[in-house]
Amino acid sequence: MAGSPLLACALPFAARADYQEDQSKVYQALIDSLSAGAPPIARPGDALSVLDFEAAARDRLSPAHFAYLASGTDDDATVRANRTGFEHFQLRPRRLTGVTETDLQVDLFAQRWRSPIMLAPVGNDMAFHPQGILPATQAAEQRQSGQILSTGSNVSLETVNKARSTPVWFQLYARRSWDWTRALVARAEAAGCPALVLTVDLAAGSNRETRNRIGELDPGDCAACHARPRSVAEKYPTLAGLPAGSESDAPFKLDWPLVDKIRDATTMKLLVKGIVTREDATLCLEHGVDGIIVSNHGGRAENSGRSTIESLPEVVQAVEGRVPVLVDSGFRRGTDIFKALALGADAVCIGRPYIWGLASFGQAGVEAVLELLERELALVMRQCGTASIADISREYIV
Ligand SMILES: Cc1cc2nc3c(=O)[nH]c(=O)nc-3n(C[C@H](O)[C@H](O)[C@H](O)COP(=O)(O)O)c2cc1C
Repeated sequence: MAGSPLLACALPFAARADYQEDQSKVYQALIDSLSAGAPPIARPGDALSVLDFEAAARDRLSPAHFAYLASGTDDDATVRANRTGFEHFQLRPRRLTGVTETDLQVDLFAQRWRSPIMLAPVGNDMAFHPQGILPATQAAEQRQSGQILSTGSNVSLETVNKARSTPVWFQLYARRSWDWTRALVARAEAAGCPALVLTVDLAAGSNRETRNRIGELDPGDCAACHARPRSVAEKYPTLAGLPAGSESDAPFKLDWPLVDKIRDATTMKLLVKGIVTREDATLCLEHGVDGIIVSNHGGRAENSGRSTIESLPEVVQAVEGRVPVLVDSGFRRGTDIFKALALGADAVCIGRPYIWGLASFGQAGVEAVLELLERELALVMRQCGTASIADISREYIV
């Protein structure tokens, strides 16, 4: 009776709002109770959505490592916003379109990928798998997916490239020393990387409170993973052999003249990752940038409380199709990806979902994550009547 739509209709407006809020809490509690206590999936093929891999990863990782993965900043408001932001957009599915087959392929900088879903750069990867990012690379190769390798990967760029038929894109954290930064750019170029992705959202530092809080509570033996102090180059092999004296992580002046210097130092395509405003998108174009990644670092950069799906339209508007626009942060469903494509994104990157797959089942887990997202995207494309990625436009979203 309490759930009766008839009863809801009979209520006065204000009371109905309260009633609906109460009802949504009841439904949420029901959903939580259905999944609570369910054991984490035992095989990648058991997953019904990529969220099943989160529970599996939580089960396998130490609390400190899982908290490092999950953490946002301050009280994690931006992490939450990245998910709820998708609820502010709805789809406009078209009927009777006759679409039965879908083609998810995209071309980016003259490279063809099987789908618009790419692996975002994730550093300190050996916290999640003994072989670090390598099984994820093998999965991306297997599924013909794009991958951006982090400056902070525990596997060297050259080792990763050996596992792929074409070199990955390289993500750059610039440092105070220009000699160091230039040498790293040169290393990526020498390794054949077609694109360099400059991350710009951490220059001011970030307050990873959840990581710090849980890390302190973890009863485990930290020495098991952090046995001895290692040099930066030992931990991050792509940084080995770079000019010395620049190992400091201290914030430094990250500004547009530096973007110009990097632009002039390489013939690789240059993307800037971490843009969330039309002003900065316009400046990217003025400074010769070849592509933009709308990102708030998965809510790990600042506690703006604003989702990237809500930041995307103003960036797309400023760019006017002159360079590719990619987006990441909070993508967990095929519909999330469809919404971004409808708002004008050319591709979507995922971070935590593939790391959940990596942590729980290695290469097979990452392959399953990519497959699930592609399957969900193909389904929503059929439902909306879009046979190809190019067919997905603003008409399909409100
Ligand atoms: C554990 C972890 C490490 C990350 N390391 C990097 C990094 O080294 N460089 C970078 O540009 N972004 C890094 N990111 C951000 C991701 O590239 C991406 O922007 C973010 O994870 C997307 O949000 P999602 O995790 O909700 O999909 C990291 C994210 C996580 C969760």
